[in-house]
Amino acid sequence: MIIGVPKEIKNNENRVALTPAGVTEFRKHGHTVYIQTEAGKGSGFSDELYSEAGATILPTIEEVYGIAEMIIKVKEPIESEYPLIKEDQLLFTYFHFASSEPLTHAMIERKAVCLAYETVEKTDRSLPLLVPMSEVAGRMAIQEGAKYLEKPMGGFGILLGGVAGVKPANVLILGGGIVGTQSAKMASGLGANVTIVDISLARLRYLEDIMPANVDTVMSNEYNIRELIKGANLIIGGVLIPGAKAPSLITRDMLKLMKPGTVMVDVAIDQGGCFETSKATTHENPIYEVDGVVHYCVANMPGAVPYTSTLALTNATLPYALQLANLGWKKACENSEELRKGLNVVNGKVVFKGVSDAWNLTYTDVKELF
Ligand SMILES: NC(=O)c1ccc[n+]([C@@H]2O[C@H](COP(=O)([O-])OP(=O)(O)OC[C@H]3O[C@@H](n4cnc5c(N)ncnc54)[C@H](O)[C@@H]3O)[C@@H](O)[C@H]2O)c1
Repeated sequence: MIIGVPKEIKNNENRVALTPAGVTEFRKHGHTVYIQTEAGKGSGFSDELYSEAGATILPTIEEVYGIAEMIIKVKEPIESEYPLIKEDQLLFTYFHFASSEPLTHAMIERKAVCLAYETVEKTDRSLPLLVPMSEVAGRMAIQEGAKYLEKPMGGFGILLGGVAGVKPANVLILGGGIVGTQSAKMASGLGANVTIVDISLARLRYLEDIMPANVDTVMSNEYNIRELIKGANLIIGGVLIPGAKAPSLITRDMLKLMKPGTVMVDVAIDQGGCFETSKATTHENPIYEVDGVVHYCVANMPGAVPYTSTLALTNATLPYALQLANLGWKKACENSEELRKGLNVVNGKVVFKGVSDAWNLTYTDVKELF
């Protein structure tokens, strides 16, 4: 198959959908790979590295879309890319169709085959192509939190791990899923006192078993959260109710219970945030203060560490991309329920219920495609 990797052109997107290692894998299976010049630059991969791995570098995005049977990307195509997409062309990328009506209509019109990273789903209902970004964001939340706890950055001025004779900081983590677990690992590794709250007792039991001794688990309810925030120095918001807005676990009136200079990192901001006072921020301007409490609410945290994020993402996407290239999308999706769940819009038909419902479009059962 002919694979094309365009350079991401969405604002501040430095990730790339394929690494030189991925090119080597495609080549081994007899595929041809075209990479747009400088596509990997933001993630630290030069054109030379791609060439050495066996890819052909193309100077323009038009040439990449023009030649490829399968386009692998990171973010959804933006408006200037719509006219470049061809009928029957396979697009494998994050789409998030339910949050963009123009994108949905454009992909229907282009009659492309749109396989969305975010809806590829394993039989245990986990989302393998979303997990890596939660892992990155969860780990980063502690790094960012530690930074903004420094006095010159607006924080209380406490070191997460303390030193001999001085107590470490208290880190409170709301939600013990992927984000929460990774945050807890980082914070406990730095020597902080960590508390994870979750509504799932089964999850708390699991975390209690695997976490080191400086991590406690507490059942999530308003009473417990009110008590815990009084002593917290850093609070991480990592709750998720699938398909719904995140619950406001810390309301505005609760801020006055906290110490001035407490830092709150709302990782769940992409689902509306789990602190009432959260509003989305950017890497250029990541924080603001409410009632003396520092809020960090960057909606695309992994974007700040494109090298790590690119490798984490491509480690997860490459095996699926190889299946698609080896078998063609139809056979690959026929064989694999995981991949089939990724199909959203195919040759003008909407085959994902969440997308047809979101925009009042006719739904076609994906099984009708086979
Ligand atoms: N800002 C970013 O850059 C970024 C990056 C990646 C992920 N995210 C977001 O982070 C959030 C968490 O993702 P995840 O992968 O860890 O999800 P997850 O499903 O693995 O974990 C969510 C956890 O929240 C718990 N929970 C639900 N309601 C709760 C409540 N009332 N109190 C306490 N815990 C509760 C669940 O039991 C679950 O354990 C999502 O909204 C995700 O989109 C943001």
